Amino acid sequence: MTRILAVNLEGAAGGAERSLVLLVEQLQGQFSTIVACPGDSVLSRLLDSKGFCCHKLPRPPARAYSSPLSVGYWLRASLCLVRVVLRAKPDLIHANSLCAAVAAMPAALLTRKSLLLHCRDLGGPGLISRVVGRFCSKLIAVSGAVKDALLRQGVKAEKIEVVYNGIDRAVISTSNPSSGMSKTGNAGVSGRFTFGHVGQFVPWKNHFVFLEAACRVGQELPEARFVLVGDDVFGRDRHYKEAVVSFVRKSTIADRVDLAGWREDMEEVWSGIDCLVHTAAREPFGRVIIEAMAHGIPVIAAGACGPAEIIENGRTGILVRAGDVGAFSEAMLRVAQDGEFAERLGSSGYADAVSRFTAGVTAERIGRIYREVLGL
Ligand code: UDP
Ligand code: GLC
Repeated sequence: MTRILAVNLEGAAGGAERSLVLLVEQLQGQFSTIVACPGDSVLSRLLDSKGFCCHKLPRPPARAYSSPLSVGYWLRASLCLVRVVLRAKPDLIHANSLCAAVAAMPAALLTRKSLLLHCRDLGGPGLISRVVGRFCSKLIAVSGAVKDALLRQGVKAEKIEVVYNGIDRAVISTSNPSSGMSKTGNAGVSGRFTFGHVGQFVPWKNHFVFLEAACRVGQELPEARFVLVGDDVFGRDRHYKEAVVSFVRKSTIADRVDLAGWREDMEEVWSGIDCLVHTAAREPFGRVIIEAMAHGIPVIAAGACGPAEIIENGRTGILVRAGDVGAFSEAMLRVAQDGEFAERLGSSGYADAVSRFTAGVTAERIGRIYREVLGL
């Protein structure tokens, strides 16, 4: 069977890692995939529990990957990957981020293996993207926005293919809103309505836009609740997290905000959220959006990048101007107060998400790219 080596430099399980695990699961039987990732990490344990083989990589640097102080890490990771490739003898290396592709380049060069970059970021230094882009056989972009960013960085259009992330079939089958599980605007009925913000605590997720909008909504709806699900999961934004927590504690809604931390039981989390508010202005894709939609939960998101490709404004969710606290709070009030509208958004969102974003289709398209790169 064709062997794929997937490389993931992070050990925490964010959107990139969850998407990778789903892909490996879906491709089982067609490809034999081995994952190289930090040992004794959330990701390695998740893969272990599903019976997949992992090769240990060094722990990610405490500082940014781009810091000059991370040079030792790059040397260790690259050397380690050379050893892994020599031992595992893959036919193809699938890098799950730009940094993973950089770390895998020496191994790919030495062993003359094809390298494929699954690009999940909008940023990245232009020169590095260009060099990696030239070296890689193919680049998978998780959205049109990511593809555009790669084009701007000088990567050739014919090398890039957009493949959206998908949702697990198990989630889809247990959350059909027509089976009575839909989330509807219920503030008018019981007064209780929970707005959720879900994601890692990093500045670009714009938690403060959510919190400021929540304060306005809190004045109008005394029974509304707010939950922040997530943490500084990659360990590089401690100060940002402290600022978020301190804002909450000093706010007028302090007693109505639940700082839920990082949760592994996302099914439980979704069952307690009536509306997802997604404030990141530059989100490459946004897994949490398709996950909420697949649970029939109405989503309000900043109308840019990935979210703007996922949501059709007013039909499958609401898009507002990025950073516009007033627009977010108005949309939040409408969803909480207009039950019919919220229900319509939830069920159209569900129908759209489960038809456009399935893990099976994502894997089929990526499998096709593997075969194309390998000339199979
Ligand atoms: N997630 C989780 N626990 C949390 C918060 C988030 O398991 O407490 C998951 C969430 O369900 C989603 C992923 O982390 O699958 C976040 O992916 P997304 O693409 O939205 O964001 P990013 O990868 O940028 O963090
Ligand atoms: C990255 C991006 C996120 C995307 C995820 C899966 O973590 O930040 O937007 O959904 O990868 O591709």
